[in-house]
Amino acid sequence: MANETKEPIAMIAIDGPAASGKSTVGRLLAEKLNYLYLDTGSMYRAVTWAALQEEIDIEDETAVTQLAHNIEIEIFPVRDGEADGRHYTVHVAGQDITWQLRTPAVDANVSQVSSYLGVRQEMVARQRAFGERGAVVMVGRDIGTVVMPDAPLKLYITASAEERARRRTRDRQAQGHIANYDDILADVLRRDQIDSNREHSPLRPATDAVLIDSTAQPPAAIVDTILKMIRETVTSNQ
Ligand code: DC
Repeated sequence: MANETKEPIAMIAIDGPAASGKSTVGRLLAEKLNYLYLDTGSMYRAVTWAALQEEIDIEDETAVTQLAHNIEIEIFPVRDGEADGRHYTVHVAGQDITWQLRTPAVDANVSQVSSYLGVRQEMVARQRAFGERGAVVMVGRDIGTVVMPDAPLKLYITASAEERARRRTRDRQAQGHIANYDDILADVLRRDQIDSNREHSPLRPATDAVLIDSTAQPPAAIVDTILKMIRETVTSNQ
């Protein structure tokens, strides 16, 4: 009905493999829509960082799960004076660990940590609580399938492994790290393998997700496509 108030989309779920461009797209989309943005990978990274910090054996599922239950993670939008290239700020027990989340040690262990059922259950509960605020863009691996299965818009963004490795190599170098393309490609393939084949909530598109291949498309073009999709969804709901 033409005069009815438009019902905004409360939740946009974006999933996809490592370095598929989903985080950039999600962040830009949240900015355009003035929505909250939650990169759920940062939560699994925070648990991994804390486990390494506390010298917990990453293979010790019970200890890592207990840590996941007790850990205090806070995620804030970037504030004035924090213009160092970060897209959000992550605190663990009040300590800013935003950049520590991107170290090779965290990269190497996060797939293992995120494969534990108890860790996932705790993070999913926290993510759902965040999603209930509404007006949220949430990015991860299982948002459309597990965390927010009723999300009115689900996107699954992918790209070739080679393109994803190129992007990650560029990002690493831009952050001042030494980065070798072949090593990064091997790591991307290894993480795809673990994330897609794990027992609990493996990486896969929801049956009703819109599939987007970002290999040859810049994030801004993808965001435009999604905004068009949102306008069409809102219109067709009236
Ligand atoms: O998106 P990312 O690279 O920061 O994710 C880090 C790890 O966390 C990755 O191995 C997959 C896992 N992850 C997950 O299992 N579920 C999510 N919703 C988000 C990330």
